[in-house]
Amino acid sequence: MTTKKPWGGRFDVETDSLVEAFSASVGFDRRLYRVDIAGSIAHVRMLAHVGVVTEQERDTIVAGLEAIKTQIEAGEFEWDEALEDVHMNIEARLVSEVGEVGKKLHTGRSRNDQVATDVRLYLREGIDQLNQAMVALQGVLIDLAAAETDTIMPGFTHMQIAQPVILGHHILAWVEMLFRDRARLSDCRKRMNVMPLGSAALAGTTYPIDRAFTAKALGFDGPTENSLDAVSDRDFLIEFNAAAALVMVHLSRIAEELVLWSSAQFEFIELGDGFCTGSSIMPQKKNPDVAELVRGKTGRVCGNLMALLMLMKAQPLAYNRDNQEDKEPLFDTLDSVLACVKVFTGMMPTMTIKRDQLYAAARRGYSTATDLADYLVKKGVAFRDAHEIVGKAVRAGIDSGKDLSEMSLVELQQFAKDIEQDVFEILTLEGSVVARNHLGGTAPEQVRLAIVRARQRLDG
Ligand code: ARG
Repeated sequence: MTTKKPWGGRFDVETDSLVEAFSASVGFDRRLYRVDIAGSIAHVRMLAHVGVVTEQERDTIVAGLEAIKTQIEAGEFEWDEALEDVHMNIEARLVSEVGEVGKKLHTGRSRNDQVATDVRLYLREGIDQLNQAMVALQGVLIDLAAAETDTIMPGFTHMQIAQPVILGHHILAWVEMLFRDRARLSDCRKRMNVMPLGSAALAGTTYPIDRAFTAKALGFDGPTENSLDAVSDRDFLIEFNAAAALVMVHLSRIAEELVLWSSAQFEFIELGDGFCTGSSIMPQKKNPDVAELVRGKTGRVCGNLMALLMLMKAQPLAYNRDNQEDKEPLFDTLDSVLACVKVFTGMMPTMTIKRDQLYAAARRGYSTATDLADYLVKKGVAFRDAHEIVGKAVRAGIDSGKDLSEMSLVELQQFAKDIEQDVFEILTLEGSVVARNHLGGTAPEQVRLAIVRARQRLDG
């Protein structure tokens, strides 16, 4: 038996089964059922408010929609592919549930403004959930940083040991990335929180609707300005996906560091057993698969961004069916990013930090060479000359297998006679970090202050 199409009036021939399968979206857009029902309830309340339906009709329709929601949630709803999408499935069920009056729900509305509204409502919830999850991750990271305000490690540029830094400072760099990511999400949320309903198919509707009423009922800041734009543009999804792609890019950077740090070559950290996996052939292995998967999922989220950009490109006004392709990238991005943020939040506190190893690594690689150059500058040597002098000292150290701090005063004075006994205070790793004592610097005192500020921003 074929299902009667709600739009079947002007057709003589039934939809080809290939087309039915090809164009159906209910397999994935059923995820919108809750926001779709919320949108319909707000819409019918508005219709009653302006007198297009009676209060009794409104109540019957609202009760029917609530019952459908319960059925869906109980797994008792049968989705029909022939009814294309979530909207027509719910509407058809409403009519079978409450009778003829159900057919009045779609008055002054089109699936075009309906779906544009649904997607905004869904994304709004998604952004709020993601934001919350990111706050939790930041909280975990700040706690970690707070426990490592005196832990010295090598800081890298070009993946070469550069200067000693405090591990807490390094972790707070991750926290900063996430603050900006959250700001981008919140910015996107503000711009997308306007309501398309009332735009109908593209031009608006002839009924005396009250768009402000519906917008308020659905928690939007107001109705959209232009009906053609409202039903057609998906730029808010692109913005969200761009912000989400950056979240993933940031997580992938952290992931990469965790992978490196947990390797035998670095041995800076060990991730908890619960967050690692073994090898089916090599019994000794403990692999950082979670971090690797997070790194890997960055690819699909960036791919989703590209899919949405290309979906929107060159679409003429107003609505086009192309836009149905917006949902899978959106859902996939939301699912992926949320899962990655949550698994990171679980994993980070399981990390054992090998402070001795971090310290030892910072001692290798002449990480206080810049401090020696700065020392010479303070003694009146020009920086370029100081750079040259220290370069020679490092060269000699490499040949004799000594760190700068392991050379005697006499040895050091061969490179510059201005060097005095006090040089050893700055050649130590501790002296090096303590000296970078300004806002944004790695001095332990500054890291402690940065932690206080980060906590305030997180709560604020
Ligand atoms: N399933 C469609 C979508 O996701 C709903 C809107 C369809 N509108 C239409 N006139 N065919 O975009």
